[in-house]
Amino acid sequence: MSNEIRRATFASIEQSTADDWAHILQNAAPYSAGVPERVLNHLRLLQGEHHGLPVDRYTHCLQTATRAYRDGRDDEYVLCSLLHDIGDSLAIHNHAEIAAAILKPYVSERRHWMILNHPVFEGFYFYDKVGVDRVLREQFRGHDGFDDAAEFCGEYDQMAFDANYDTLPLEHFMPLVMSLMSAPRVAAEPEAISVG
Ligand SMILES: [Fe+2]
Ligand SMILES: [Fe+2]
Repeated sequence: MSNEIRRATFASIEQSTADDWAHILQNAAPYSAGVPERVLNHLRLLQGEHHGLPVDRYTHCLQTATRAYRDGRDDEYVLCSLLHDIGDSLAIHNHAEIAAAILKPYVSERRHWMILNHPVFEGFYFYDKVGVDRVLREQFRGHDGFDDAAEFCGEYDQMAFDANYDTLPLEHFMPLVMSLMSAPRVAAEPEAISVG
């Protein structure tokens, strides 16, 4: 909470001073450090949201991560697996863009692409059952990330709806999330300094 922190007095950004920014950026650091915790809280919003699916969307995320983890995937891959559907609550029509945006500062370009484009690769396993061309993923044939995304959906994502599977709890993945999302992989771009 920032109730006791002194506030700058500018009325527009143009009026702000270097001292203002030193003060603001210093005090914003704990807020920035709270990103992993807030992301996990958001993931928890998917608890109970099953809409007829064999498992709720939260369990699906955990099971995707569990399967990747048990298959020996690295921490970054497991993080991507855990959060790949986190956008369902706010952007159900373009959920992958939310997950990819959240993950972008913390993962490689290759993994970012995999998560951003996973829906059409997942569609290979069911689109034909809802009247959509199941091979929409072919638009990406030849792309460097094609095999990664096909493997992610084939081995983990589309497999993670088993109500009888021994899915690990979120607590198991917390250290990994806290570690990987504690700081961006590369120094923040100027536009990443967010003030509102
Ligand atoms: Fe998805
Ligand atoms: Fe999924």
